[in-house]
Amino acid sequence: MKNIEVKVSADGSSTLYRPDLNEHYHSMNGAVQESLHVFIDAGLKMVCKNDIHILEIGFGTGLNALLTLTHKAERVIHYHTLEKFPVPNDLLAVINYPSVVPHPSAGEWFGQIHTADWNREVKIANGFYLTKMEADLLMFSVDSTYDLVYFDAFAPEKQPEMWSESVFQMLFKAMRNGAILTTYCAKGVVRRFMQSAGFKVERLQGPPGKREMLRAMKV
Ligand SMILES: C[S@@+](CC[C@H](N)C(=O)[O-])C[C@H]1O[C@@H](n2cnc3c(N)ncnc32)[C@H](O)[C@@H]1O
Repeated sequence: MKNIEVKVSADGSSTLYRPDLNEHYHSMNGAVQESLHVFIDAGLKMVCKNDIHILEIGFGTGLNALLTLTHKAERVIHYHTLEKFPVPNDLLAVINYPSVVPHPSAGEWFGQIHTADWNREVKIANGFYLTKMEADLLMFSVDSTYDLVYFDAFAPEKQPEMWSESVFQMLFKAMRNGAILTTYCAKGVVRRFMQSAGFKVERLQGPPGKREMLRAMKV
């Protein structure tokens, strides 16, 4: 991947921009605000378990992983994340999450998340076990059972193949009963694919700058 640019979103936090897709990794209305709203508040905070297995689609800058760690409290989290195109180190070095994520260990943890080996489980902090998988979602066969899925692919207009009914069917099978999948996307066609795959889907208020988002539950 060439020519990725670092940008600053409206809440002061960094994001990346892919000119070839004309697509940002996060909302330009606020990268940290969006991740907190969509994945932490509508996802992590809804899971009532002390040992949580999370699958993220699209590791990118590692922001969702970092915020999950800073919000995990006393719980144990097994965090599996998929990425087809790992972000180069020179870009990671200028991303400002170590200074804008309000936690005393944010900088140390951001570094550890990115230096962790790929394709094996690494303990980042007490109770936080990270497995970064360099893999293509479209070729992925899941062999774990998840309580929570962060679906953070590029937008359906840019990568429609990531938002297909068959992808949601695969994720449905990989989730336990009562597990939830959360995403910033609110498109009707995506909601219908989720419903056809078996999920019960809710429309929730979106993050700043976005009217709605989706949360799907396996019931
Ligand atoms: C919206 S960004 C994810 C942002 C990320 N969660 C973060 O906190 O920075 C989408 C990510 O999906 C990745 N991606 C694109 N195609 C993929 C594929 N087929 N399989 C896995 N990941 C893919 C992109 O490289 C990008 O990192």
